[in-house]
Amino acid sequence: MSADIHSERILILDFGAQYTQLIARRVREAGVYCEIRAFDLGDDDVRAFAPSGIILSGGPESVTQAHTPRAPNAVFTANVPVLGICYGMQAMAVQLGGAVSHVHEQEFGHALVNLLAHGALFTDVIDGESFDAWMSHGDQVTALPPGFHLLASTASAPIAAMAHETRQLYAVQFHPEVTHTACGATLLKHFVRDICRCQGLWTPAHIVADAVARIRAQVGKDNVVLGLSGGVDSSVVAALLAHAIGEQVTAIFVDNGLLRLGESDEVMKVFAGEAGNANTLPLRLQRVDAQDEFLDALAGVSDPEAKRKVIGSTFIDVFDREANKIPGVRWLAQGTIYPDVVESAATRQGKAHVIKSHHNVGGLPANMKLGLVEPLRELFKDEVRAVGLELGLPESVVYRHPFPGPGLGVRILGEVKREYADVLRRADAIFIEELRAADLYLAVGQAFAVYLPVRSVGVVGDARRYEHVIALRCVETTDFMTADWSQLPYELLGRVARRIVNEIAGVSRVVYDITSKPPGTIEWE
Ligand code: XMP
Repeated sequence: MSADIHSERILILDFGAQYTQLIARRVREAGVYCEIRAFDLGDDDVRAFAPSGIILSGGPESVTQAHTPRAPNAVFTANVPVLGICYGMQAMAVQLGGAVSHVHEQEFGHALVNLLAHGALFTDVIDGESFDAWMSHGDQVTALPPGFHLLASTASAPIAAMAHETRQLYAVQFHPEVTHTACGATLLKHFVRDICRCQGLWTPAHIVADAVARIRAQVGKDNVVLGLSGGVDSSVVAALLAHAIGEQVTAIFVDNGLLRLGESDEVMKVFAGEAGNANTLPLRLQRVDAQDEFLDALAGVSDPEAKRKVIGSTFIDVFDREANKIPGVRWLAQGTIYPDVVESAATRQGKAHVIKSHHNVGGLPANMKLGLVEPLRELFKDEVRAVGLELGLPESVVYRHPFPGPGLGVRILGEVKREYADVLRRADAIFIEELRAADLYLAVGQAFAVYLPVRSVGVVGDARRYEHVIALRCVETTDFMTADWSQLPYELLGRVARRIVNEIAGVSRVVYDITSKPPGTIEWE
């Protein structure tokens, strides 16, 4: 491998903003590795990180109050460029001898920023004298720290951007990380590439080469086992392992009877391929047909959390049994990704602002005593996808909507029955097929059908039908924490409803869910 892709690196100190992960994503998109750390990182740790530059995030608190977060002093003595954003700007101002006040005219949302001087920060980023940006603040800098000069202002924030050119300290009151600030991504790219002088080593090809080298170094000649669900993360892990250590890896794919239509065969086709197919990945893939075991265990269980537990523990039993049959296994590979790492660190440190609770059903069998291989730990979802494409995975796998661990088990309300799962699979497939045909599948965040075992009267042909109901759910979301219901074209909804009732005998009515999250969750259970 030619370059150490972690050698140029941006340190992002998190003051608790909702948008900190977006800052990191913009930096990565600019081709530079970065990590998010809590604002109270020690001075020694800041130096040990050896950053090429530092970004201070926004945050919900007020520097005008005592005992609120400040940046480590090492940030300002490390001799690297620093960019403060919103709260990060205010912390920089008060720590370096300026002033910040709470103002009556708070700014939330769009603002026109007037550029008074380009300085290094805006050179090659802004052509004209003003630009649109997104603001969210109640405090503002009211006096520049010594040595700083004013770069920009808005109608209500006279100091909206400032810089100390010789020390390479820059700060903006607006949020460049959100897409509402049109020049934001360019500004962040300019900061990390031109001001921090990073070359842009963080590319999919380099990430793959780095991951392959690290997997090889970690596992040596040992065997590795992986639970392959067919979702994006485990599929990319499988592809990486196949490239890195080939036949030392066994992927176990459990068919729990709660998968989507054709999913099991599709996973086999992508990963086991046909003999002689050059694209076939050189990993051993074991499909375990455990449909009866799951459906038997679910009989009589109707509470959503109880169903999750049954599905989770059955998965562990099946996986454990199969993994124990593989000789010499020392490692378990998992598809943990960077947002999981950031969120679980924040939860551990009591600094969590958003906590996901019920996910990752089917965790690690506690008694397996295997080392963990987690090659996606540093990657955001979009980077995982880019790596998947780099490794030659088909787009149908790489861009697939997320599917919950308990699968159709939480999309059949109440007790799960095989015949309900069969009907739901077909209804879901029709919905997805029509979404794809309308070119909308990739535009929405998640779409699926839900089985409602309540009876409703219908008339099909000349006959009365008294059958169950299918609900369609389709949401737009970027983070799955909040979501808007998708305003799908009526014509498309009508076509899907017609096809489901006409083509599937067990359904008499189709409804569309128009609840956003919150207050609804995305799944119905
Ligand atoms: P909710 O329903 O909480 O879903 O709005 C947010 C996202 O998480 C997925 N989800 C799950 N994923 N196990 C999973 O692995 C689960 O038990 C589970 N429940 C919900 C859901 O599909 C959506 O993408």
